[in-house]
Amino acid sequence: MALRVAAPAKVNLTLGVLGRRPDGYHEVRSVMQAVSLADRLLFEPARDGALLLEGGSGDAPPVETNLVLRAARALAEAGGTATGARIRLEKRIPVGAGLGGGSSDAAATILALNRLWGLEMPLPDLTRIAAQLGSDVPFFLSQGTALAEGRGERLTFLPAAPVLWLALVKPSASLPTPRVYAEYARSRPAPQDDVTPRMLDALATGSVEDVARCLRNDLQSAAIALCPEIDNVLSLMMESGAVAAQVSGSGSACFALCRSRERAGAVASAAARRGWWAAVARTTGLPMEMR
Ligand code: C5P
Repeated sequence: MALRVAAPAKVNLTLGVLGRRPDGYHEVRSVMQAVSLADRLLFEPARDGALLLEGGSGDAPPVETNLVLRAARALAEAGGTATGARIRLEKRIPVGAGLGGGSSDAAATILALNRLWGLEMPLPDLTRIAAQLGSDVPFFLSQGTALAEGRGERLTFLPAAPVLWLALVKPSASLPTPRVYAEYARSRPAPQDDVTPRMLDALATGSVEDVARCLRNDLQSAAIALCPEIDNVLSLMMESGAVAAQVSGSGSACFALCRSRERAGAVASAAARRGWWAAVARTTGLPMEMR
């Protein structure tokens, strides 16, 4: 038996940083949204009990491969199985982008190996394993649209968001999440009002304009301070017809909220002409098996 799965990227429609926690993390409040851009993974049992990972295109970086293997090892340990797996990872989501690619690969690994190994561990147990691998990993077990609180691992799933068309663009530089949070802490920005409740209302109306008015990312200034090219990406997005544009997560990728697929395509093409990685994506609901 082989399992083929897609591991989607996410954008943060809002990301409010509420303060520093005693454990060194930051308390956040974020509306996370899964999108159609996705990595591809293939899982097959390995007869000799080994855990093997092959980067499909050979460009899967160590951090991604580590997270996939760490997820596999954590699940094998929790499930008490010695069955191995051969995992093939085909990266499409850029790394160091704030699009959650590594976290999504880890969540896909947990879900797929739970099935492949016949463990039948329930979602709360899988969520505990996921949270130990990274703050964003639990979100990707269920995807769709969710309010994330705590360090990002405490989730309230929301009704499916309207279909929104996005252009995703990443400047050449990547940003490690810890550096962006450290820059945020160093710069001590003034506290912002919490737009997340208004975003929840806007998502219920389904209007692109309403959603655009409620976009917010408290990490954006820190990301721009570390990667000034982000400013050029955001300007280009607005010049080429986006309704609004924002950094996703800790960056360096940005997303443009667009009125149509065609407009998102025009923004992505303009960015690609500047030599940046660019893709068109749409917001997606829960995966089929969760409906
Ligand atoms: O949880 P994850 O491993 O993805 O976090 C990476 C780093 O980002 C943490 O070590 C921490 O420096 C920072 N972080 C934070 N507050 C959060 C999430 C991440 O300070 N809520």
